[in-house]
Amino acid sequence: MQVKILDTTLRDGEQTPGVSLTPEEKLRIALRLDDLGVDIIEAGSAITSEGEREALKKIVKEGLNAEICSFARALQVDIDEALKCDVDSIHLVVPTSELHIKDKLQKPPGEVKEKAIDSIEYAKDHGLIVEFSAEDATRSNMQFLKEILEESISAGADRICACDTVGILTPERAYEFYGELSKLKAPLSVHCHNDFGLAVANSLMGLRAGASEVHATINGIGERAGNAALEEIVVALYSLYDVKTNINTKMLYETSKMVARLTGVYIQPNKAIVGENAFAHESGIHVDGILKKAETYEPITPELVGRKRRFVMGKHIGSSALKEKLEEFDFKVDEKQFKQIFERVKNLGDMGKCVTDVDLQAIAEDVLGIV
Ligand code: KIV
Ligand code: ZN
Repeated sequence: MQVKILDTTLRDGEQTPGVSLTPEEKLRIALRLDDLGVDIIEAGSAITSEGEREALKKIVKEGLNAEICSFARALQVDIDEALKCDVDSIHLVVPTSELHIKDKLQKPPGEVKEKAIDSIEYAKDHGLIVEFSAEDATRSNMQFLKEILEESISAGADRICACDTVGILTPERAYEFYGELSKLKAPLSVHCHNDFGLAVANSLMGLRAGASEVHATINGIGERAGNAALEEIVVALYSLYDVKTNINTKMLYETSKMVARLTGVYIQPNKAIVGENAFAHESGIHVDGILKKAETYEPITPELVGRKRRFVMGKHIGSSALKEKLEEFDFKVDEKQFKQIFERVKNLGDMGKCVTDVDLQAIAEDVLGIV
């Protein structure tokens, strides 16, 4: 089984409060996403602004392997703007929950459905690939949701997607919900938000239930608590479910750092896969285990995601880790000198300090009397 990845870092990800990318920055990220092996890049929304259209045009001009997609509402003007940018596809979205239709759009449900179908037909007549999405699908009436998705398929939608817009699914419900929709006669995509910290788990369950594509963002950036994190989904699929994607996992870390730098949304140190501590070890017991066999405390190799293991000096350090570090810096110490260095590292830890490599080098040089 192979899962398709639609990366929406440049659309849903850019909707992160405070994030705004220039056309050049969007192009740089799109080039990296293409190298990474993303199947579809949702690169923005052509109707949004002049800059957004410039970005889409620049990206399309590169002739990338990935399908380049523009977000569009069920409005002819949105589709026309996408067509002017020469994108391959549109991600056409209408809300399907009563809450969104009645309170947000303030339109009858029949009219929403009609607009959706007309828009799909219009886009297909103009040669676009159409991925049709139901917004707030997980709070929608299942019968209405299925009807609109079925009609979208009859109107020519190439793929369908159901969005967990406010992240209210649980893994069990995700399995049931996407399982039901995967019986429809078009490839199904999963789109999950992280309001309860379950976006990745729910996405994985949607895929297990029969969906064949997943929407994700680098570092999980997005509205509120964000979207499902691409790097976590891909590595979990590969390592825990034996499911392949086109992603070159070795490029995940550098891509994550690039997106963090350009968006200014920094990554928590303990974030899975790409956080600074994801492959860092301090405790003596752990470092000792790792030095004997890495699998003892690492579920995947750091190299799989383009990273290196790191041993951190602090009060939990053990003698194996310190020996390893001193050897790395080429210090030859006798037993007494080793004890002195070990104690000084522990003392600094007790004083609430972290011991960097530079600190350790200074301590060792002091103990060895190197000026
Ligand atoms: O989360 C969502 O519902 C979306 C749609 C607008 C596609 O991002
Ligand atoms: Zn979304």
